[in-house]
Amino acid sequence: MQYRNFGKLDWKVSALGFGCMRLPTTDSAPISANVAEEEAIGMIRYAIDNGVNYVDSAYVYHSGKSEVVLGKALRDGYRDKVKIATKAPIWLIGKTEDFDKFLDEQLHRLGADRIDFYLFHGLDKSSWDTVKSQDLLGRAEAALKAGKIGHIGFSFHDRFEVFRDILNDYGGWSMCLMQYNFMDTDNQAGTKGLELAAAKGLGVVVMEPLLGGKLANPPQEIRKQLENSGYAGSSADLALQWLWDQPGVSVVLSGMSAMDQVAANVRSANRSAIGSLSGMETDLIGKMRRFFKERTANSCTGCGYCLPCPNSVDIPRNLKLYNDGAMYGFYAEEKRIYHLFLQPEERAANCIQCKACEEKCPQKIPISEWMLKVQEKFK
Ligand SMILES: NC(=O)c1ccc[n+]([C@@H]2O[C@H](COP(=O)([O-])OP(=O)(O)OC[C@H]3O[C@@H](n4cnc5c(N)ncnc54)[C@H](OP(=O)(O)O)[C@@H]3O)[C@@H](O)[C@H]2O)c1
Repeated sequence: MQYRNFGKLDWKVSALGFGCMRLPTTDSAPISANVAEEEAIGMIRYAIDNGVNYVDSAYVYHSGKSEVVLGKALRDGYRDKVKIATKAPIWLIGKTEDFDKFLDEQLHRLGADRIDFYLFHGLDKSSWDTVKSQDLLGRAEAALKAGKIGHIGFSFHDRFEVFRDILNDYGGWSMCLMQYNFMDTDNQAGTKGLELAAAKGLGVVVMEPLLGGKLANPPQEIRKQLENSGYAGSSADLALQWLWDQPGVSVVLSGMSAMDQVAANVRSANRSAIGSLSGMETDLIGKMRRFFKERTANSCTGCGYCLPCPNSVDIPRNLKLYNDGAMYGFYAEEKRIYHLFLQPEERAANCIQCKACEEKCPQKIPISEWMLKVQEKFK
């Protein structure tokens, strides 16, 4: 494993971190509560045995099961080999005192007496205002003093300007978690955000490095280009190397859902280095970026933050079906899946345009407009 600087901390982080948001499930439904425990524990331990020393979860992942399974994986001496990061669900914290209630519950779920990095989950302009007005930073600092947490951080989904304000408003951040990959250089915090956070001495943790898997499964044209270029790795490998090439990136979190992905990403991380991307590889990235930009319809990453829909529409699946069709330029198979595998109430046609989902979407997708487009495409 390669190890990298983590902001101003006197500690080296592994190039690859384990994101526990897309663990394998027994019902094959991504992000469901039915985590395939034995398999997930085996994957997490394999990663740690191969040098991963940073694991990331959140109160809400897998409906609360992610922290529980991670806690089990960290028994038998594994806890001491990693730093645990997990996140406070700001939108569930009704009053200031609830901060401690959630933190204590998370410590209990993880079976830990300390969370190394405790993050405010998914900050955007409005939740940052809530954090400040409810003095949640004061609660976090008290938890720091009490030794329940090791460092304070945040994860982020909004515009660069909001990211900059969050960095400038508070001097106690040790780290941040931002969405970043070769398609998101100008999206959300973007390259400007990465550089600013690194310059301020924060550890920068990257999430969605493969855009939730989209960059790992490119269409035929891209696969052909990769083959013809002589690049030895997969498109997932190339996307990860692009991140590790940059000095501002501390650790890349991957939400791995199968053992072969863990093994492949560990291999990729083993040969990663700052400034190692060749001209040919940079060129390939440019070609992939242009190709995807031309064809991606909406920026949904399948994170599921929009759920539950009050009218039971399965928003991520509807958006994914549309995107898959757009990417491959062929909607017939997606139309079949829409009618065969989605229950009537789960289909876009059941959207009542209430827009309750839109304020929860980290990508700020105008979901209700998209539900009309999906409905039209698959009618
Ligand atoms: N705080 C927040 O707001 C927030 C939001 C999102 C994520 N996160 C954290 O960041 C972590 C990483 O984000 P992410 O899960 O979106 O990461 P990601 O790496 O962009 O996407 C993970 C998906 O990529 C595919 N994949 C991974 N490695 C692969 C490989 N070697 N070959 C082929 N496919 C591969 C898998 O897709 P399939 O399962 O389809 O095979 C996997 O589920 C999360 O797990 C979570 O811990 C935080």
